[in-house]
Amino acid sequence: MIQLILDLYQHSNFDFTQYAFPSDPLRDRFREWQDYYRLKWAIAKAIQPNSILEIGVRFGYSAIAFLQAVPKAHYVGIDIDNNSFGGQQGAIDWAKQITEGYHTDFIIGNTQEMNEFPSPEIYDLIHVDAQQDGDGTYHDLSLATKQARYILVDGLFWTAENFQASLNWVRDNQRHFEYFIGIPGYAGELLIKVKSPSVTTDCWLSNTTDRQTDRQNRQTVVSFYQLIRKVTIFKTVGDMTTTNSLGGNCLILA
Ligand SMILES: C[S@@+](CC[C@H](N)C(=O)[O-])C[C@H]1O[C@@H](n2cnc3c(N)ncnc32)[C@H](O)[C@@H]1O
Repeated sequence: MIQLILDLYQHSNFDFTQYAFPSDPLRDRFREWQDYYRLKWAIAKAIQPNSILEIGVRFGYSAIAFLQAVPKAHYVGIDIDNNSFGGQQGAIDWAKQITEGYHTDFIIGNTQEMNEFPSPEIYDLIHVDAQQDGDGTYHDLSLATKQARYILVDGLFWTAENFQASLNWVRDNQRHFEYFIGIPGYAGELLIKVKSPSVTTDCWLSNTTDRQTDRQNRQTVVSFYQLIRKVTIFKTVGDMTTTNSLGGNCLILA
């Protein structure tokens, strides 16, 4: 899976700017986002999902990357539609427009207030890219585990908080997944292969207080984050695969 993603990525000429909102307030980042959305395209192309759910749609750039890679897929996008976490009120309308012609549904909602997604189906791919403040990511990951075959977490390396929350979730829910792959890219992608998703899966939706008391583990995770960020080659071309055998193994391809 890793090699397939990297090969597809290297040969991709997907160009998200063809679909970008001309007055996007973050348009000065379009040049650095080219590879970012090519990687999203490559991940979808490798997985070939029939169904995709995305938490955090914004202007729909990941949505169109996924749908261009797998045009047959049914895509569901959920967004709170406000100006938080890179969001822009009304952006979802542009996302609807550029994905016209594909099989899509858009929902305005706050996933932090959900205990399950609006539809109980199991999605082949769930993209977690919304409230990237640590606890928000942890919550969305717990929701996704119950209804996903693959989960893709965006922004793994955005902040130590998000990295820590994602890896805490991995530790707390290791029995639910087969492996996870970390790909540095623009913001850091974490791809998780879920074992056997079920809406009855008992995920640990731990609260902040529980995790705040777990200081020793947090320190270990932060040190790992600092180490990974220092490995420049890893950040450029590598990937990180771990399996959840006893103790957990981590293989880093530099
Ligand atoms: C980083 S942007 C998503 C970018 C998009 N996935 C892309 O690749 O173009 C984050 C989005 O999450 C949305 N968001 C933030 N908090 C949310 C929440 N609690 N529930 C649903 N959406 C949320 C914001 O409105 C914003 O549009």
